[in-house]
Amino acid sequence: MKEHTVKLAILKTLSQGGFHSGEELGEQLNVSRAAISKHIKGIQGWGVDVFRVQGKGYQLAKPMQLLDQNVLNQSLSSPVELIPIIDSTNQYLLDRVNSLESGSTCLAEYQEKGRGRRGREWISPFGANLYLSMYWRLDAGMAAAMGLSLVVGVAIVEALEEMGLNGVKLKWPNDLYYQDRKLAGILVEMSGQAGAAAHLVIGMGMNLMMSDATEGITQPWASLSEVAASQKVDRNQLAVTMINTLQSSLADYELQGMSGFVERWNRLDNFIGRPIKLIMGPREVSGIARGINEQGAVLLETEQGIESYIGGEISLRPSTQ
Ligand code: ATP
Ligand code: BTN
Repeated sequence: MKEHTVKLAILKTLSQGGFHSGEELGEQLNVSRAAISKHIKGIQGWGVDVFRVQGKGYQLAKPMQLLDQNVLNQSLSSPVELIPIIDSTNQYLLDRVNSLESGSTCLAEYQEKGRGRRGREWISPFGANLYLSMYWRLDAGMAAAMGLSLVVGVAIVEALEEMGLNGVKLKWPNDLYYQDRKLAGILVEMSGQAGAAAHLVIGMGMNLMMSDATEGITQPWASLSEVAASQKVDRNQLAVTMINTLQSSLADYELQGMSGFVERWNRLDNFIGRPIKLIMGPREVSGIARGINEQGAVLLETEQGIESYIGGEISLRPSTQ
């Protein structure tokens, strides 16, 4: 068995709950107790909180619901591939754009090299969150991609609202926020030539029940479990809802572009009416956030009036940060 296969099998057993001894796991998987102990260390290295009690065995500190390829297949009509351990779901699809059908999805439980905008790291502990990417062929070409990433963010927040998960907001251009902390990030990457159809990969990382002990995140973050409070969120069902939402919002965008979209965004804008700064390399401009315009640019009210800013190199921050 490949190394990952043993770890994944251990996690499957542990995710059923309760204690499982090294001996039991070893017998089940045909490896020694020492090997199990080594694999448990590897699993901990994936960000999973597993502890051991003498005489009882191993247990997960928090319940974990694994994604299930069969459940996903049964609920979706488009191709979906669950690859539990991956470098990056975005990279996986980008490497295969020529053989994919539009709307194909890749999901993972753990990303070794999850990424955010401008090559920043997306921390991706095993089984705690959602790491999802979708391939979309955009006949309108690359220029339309900026608007598309805003449209997708709005559609996802609206889908959460339909599930009764309220209070999630948007930070321009493509972050989801909850109580001023980052809940999810969207990363749109593309390959294609100017003027031709664009091959887009739309990736979303959404924190579901990330451990407070998670290291390496340099800004305040939130998990969907806080939004859901006592409501239980089924991970497979959430993945299916997100995939359906992405597909329908992308198809709508191809038909309607951004018409009628500004109000939907502005209702959900986390910073609207608040003092912010826009950081563009060495340059910073401060003002009051005034939502977006029909091109998808962020609006900033300064002493000179209302200015619009657009482009992938801009970072928005509250002026206190
Ligand atoms: P920008 O406004 O420029 O997009 P950002 O801080 O949101 O700024 P991104 O590149 O969009 O930056 O996202 C990557 C950043 O997100 C990382 O630098 C890290 O601070 C943070 N991050 C990484 N993993 C997670 C996660 N699982 N949840 C929340 N935030 C994360
Ligand atoms: C951001 O806020 O900068 C965007 C983060 C996007 C993370 C997701 S997780 C699934 C997909 N695969 C990646 O490597 N990144 C995106």
